[in-house]
Amino acid sequence: MRVYHASSYNDMCQKAANLISAQILLHPQSVLGLATGSTPIGIYERLVGGYNQGELDFDGITTFNLDEYCGLSESDPQSYHYYMNDHLLSKVNVKREKTHLPNVSTGEVEAECKRYDDLIEACGGIDLQLLGLGNNGHIGFNEPGSVFEKNTHCVALDERTILANSRFFNSLNDVPSKAVTMGIKSIMHARRILLVVNGEAKKEILEKSLYGPITPMVPASILQLHPDLTVIWSAA
Ligand code: GLP
Repeated sequence: MRVYHASSYNDMCQKAANLISAQILLHPQSVLGLATGSTPIGIYERLVGGYNQGELDFDGITTFNLDEYCGLSESDPQSYHYYMNDHLLSKVNVKREKTHLPNVSTGEVEAECKRYDDLIEACGGIDLQLLGLGNNGHIGFNEPGSVFEKNTHCVALDERTILANSRFFNSLNDVPSKAVTMGIKSIMHARRILLVVNGEAKKEILEKSLYGPITPMVPASILQLHPDLTVIWSAA
């Protein structure tokens, strides 16, 4: 595990964008695993900047997002489909058919989870997975208590997650109570993992994740066992 201490949020984003850019430059056909939340926004801004300056080409890139809320349409501004289009996918030359998020609108959740896992495998697996960290130690939407052996599946969101994510919604009641997420097993299969964490409020849970016991009660603690984990942490 490599842990980089960034001096600020901007520095964290720059370092992470540098690593993702290097992946794209070295392997233009890469499969990227992408994350949502407020933490990666500055990273996506920098990747879009790299594309606009002619430094990055997304033509051969495939993307898979970690998760999506159940019950929101793709055009809902709170959906992760909308977020990804808004922050990255519509702003670079990635091929639309090579960008993937769980499709929760089918109503056939189990079949969709299997389709998603099969597609990841058919694309050769994820080369670099970007991850944020939930306040309760979740990764993707794998909440405390999640078993480590799952691939993509449907989850009930933890109360703390609903509360934390309510800042993006009009009210607490508007936050979906379920989501489809890549499982811990899917995440651990990525060849490289880049975990970005920002803010003093997440210091304790990050320390537990990286140096505490490996336990389903802290889902991110499993990352200690990943052979190629890079963490970029910024307190500010
Ligand atoms: C959501 C996402 C996670 C993300 C987490 C932290 O719950 N499903 O993938 O890591 O939020 O978000 P933030 O970066 O806004 O703190």
